[in-house]
Amino acid sequence: MYSLNLKLPVEISQDELLSRVDRLNADPKIHGILVQMPLPKHINADAVIRRLDPYKDVDGFHPVNVGKMLIGEKDGFIPCTPAGIQVLLRESGVKTPGKNCVIVGRSNIVGKPMAALMIQDNENANCTVTVCHRHTEDLGGHTREADILIVAAGRPGIITRDLVKRGAVVIDVGTNRVSDASSKSGTRLRGDVDFDGVREVASKITPVPGGVGPMTIAMLMLNTVRAAEMAAR
Ligand SMILES: NC(=O)c1ccc[n+]([C@@H]2O[C@H](COP(=O)([O-])OP(=O)(O)OC[C@H]3O[C@@H](n4cnc5c(N)ncnc54)[C@H](OP(=O)(O)O)[C@@H]3O)[C@@H](O)[C@H]2O)c1
Repeated sequence: MYSLNLKLPVEISQDELLSRVDRLNADPKIHGILVQMPLPKHINADAVIRRLDPYKDVDGFHPVNVGKMLIGEKDGFIPCTPAGIQVLLRESGVKTPGKNCVIVGRSNIVGKPMAALMIQDNENANCTVTVCHRHTEDLGGHTREADILIVAAGRPGIITRDLVKRGAVVIDVGTNRVSDASSKSGTRLRGDVDFDGVREVASKITPVPGGVGPMTIAMLMLNTVRAAEMAAR
């Protein structure tokens, strides 16, 4: 895959950034564009996302693609992290129809699209979905009902064993850098799930690192190949 890594100066103006996007949109050698977030404070990230050609928006964040995902249209791009989780569930033989799927977190990049995917009418979804956030009362009351628990809160170790139903499938999206005196760098990655405790009750659980993260990257490649195929058609 031909790839171009454009590292732009932090002081770049919004207009200049938008015109770089325009040039990539018009470049037939480029099929997929990923805007690495977060952007500097003086840039309106929504405006940059909206400027992407939806057919090159391999991150799936353009409103056109978000809308297509919500209504179940197949020719859009699905955000890579939730798409990867759905593939992970499918490839692990998890039967989702009729199951209670509880999602902790409602961000635009993970929680909301995850919920939109799991309520679709297809064999990899058809769940009853609950979405929890900081205002949810009695988080554990919801998570303990989950057959499939997907956690994307950005809070290391927030999901402990007592919050998980025996036999649940637990997907840990959280990627938190925490201090660790025993590691060379002084830090390590930790998920939102207390892995050692929860693995004793869960039927399946993803590790951090090495679970959802690599799937996200794989889905980005997949979306890019699809974008190239669509452009060729
Ligand atoms: N592995 C990957 O590929 C990948 C991809 C994306 C993100 N991540 C990781 O996933 C985590 C979440 O990312 P994000 O971008 O979705 O984060 P985010 O934008 O900060 O959203 C976090 C969500 O969690 C909710 N939340 C926070 N504390 C909570 C609590 N105590 N109880 C219930 N809900 C709570 C927040 O609720 P409010 O909306 O009420 O604030 C918010 O909706 C981060 O650790 C991030 O690094 C990993």
